[in-house]
Amino acid sequence: MTAGTASVADLFRRAYSTEPQGFWRAPGRVNLIGEHTDYNDGFVLPFAIDRATTIALRVRDDDRIRLTSTFDEQVVESDLAAVDRRDFAGWSAYPLGVTWAIGERHPDAVRHGFDLAVDSDVPVGAGLSSSAAIEMAVAVALDDVLGLGLGRADLARIGQRAENIAVGAPTGIMDQSASVFGERDAAVFLDCRSLAVEQVPLGFDAAGLVLLVVDTKVEHQHATGGYRDRREACERGAAAMGVAALRDLSVDDLPRARTLLDDVTYRRVQHVVTEDARVLDSVAALKSGDLRRFGALMDASHVSMRDDFEISVPQLDAVVETAQAAGAVGARMTGGGFGGCAIALVPAADAEPLAAAVLRVFAERGWHEPVPFTVVPSDGARAV
Ligand code: GLA
Repeated sequence: MTAGTASVADLFRRAYSTEPQGFWRAPGRVNLIGEHTDYNDGFVLPFAIDRATTIALRVRDDDRIRLTSTFDEQVVESDLAAVDRRDFAGWSAYPLGVTWAIGERHPDAVRHGFDLAVDSDVPVGAGLSSSAAIEMAVAVALDDVLGLGLGRADLARIGQRAENIAVGAPTGIMDQSASVFGERDAAVFLDCRSLAVEQVPLGFDAAGLVLLVVDTKVEHQHATGGYRDRREACERGAAAMGVAALRDLSVDDLPRARTLLDDVTYRRVQHVVTEDARVLDSVAALKSGDLRRFGALMDASHVSMRDDFEISVPQLDAVVETAQAAGAVGARMTGGGFGGCAIALVPAADAEPLAAAVLRVFAERGWHEPVPFTVVPSDGARAV
């Protein structure tokens, strides 16, 4: 038993005085490159990390649902009728939202309630998709116990639907896809329009590199505010350019976009269009083992998010600048922005000194102490 499985088994027994039927595990993610491109039908390159949500579940004979977690041991009670009405709140919106989304697609599939216990070592609110990890763990578990035989792309779509409708965050499909399609030592190259996936070997380990993540502890919210606003600007830009999604534009269309769009909308569009191109260039660079080129694309992506998409914050910029000054191969903020994490690809021996340098910079500026740690590309959601 892994640590996560033992603690969730223990919690399950304490809460429900019975044994779980099984255990399932789904990871969080970092995004290497391709930010705010997913809901524009574009390209992303995340990987599943070695931090995950582990759940224990047992199907019941009746329609009751009980939920508990290591971060809030109080048992939440619900039932299938409440799920149908989309009557849920707090963290239970993630597992119950997935239950609802499965029922929406397969109306007769969910006939019984269940008892569920959740444990996770994906930091919450850090932009590492702790919510997608819960969603995908519950989705693979229900798929297994109900014998639905859902494909990986269907599981991701169900998670996104839960996030959009049950949680109310207008996010794309990247996080759930990374969590289900992840593979050891590889990134998930995803076409967010077709959901075609290719696992791209990273070879960081063989090259003596590690990916350092720095959680800035600046909290972000994607259900409200900047994220929604950026998404609307992209939709406005696409409509004005006469395309279904910004994915349908290339860098050759940018001069025309500049004449048609106001300055802010233009810069939002410029970020997305150039970011899509950077993802494709990154995949080519990684396939040819050109990690220097990939690092340069990471750096360029950060500049585009900072100046054109305007989703960075001083803490994220400081991590990136400190990493670059220390000779990182590449560095950028990752995830939706307005806080959360930055990443730096660095020689293994440089990770600790860089983490120490970042801590010093934050202390000097009087910012909340950040949390640096390395992550390893890992396998996606599965039964344990
Ligand atoms: C959040 C969302 C994703 C994606 C990123 C930005 O993580 O959940 O769907 O839009 O922001 O790339």
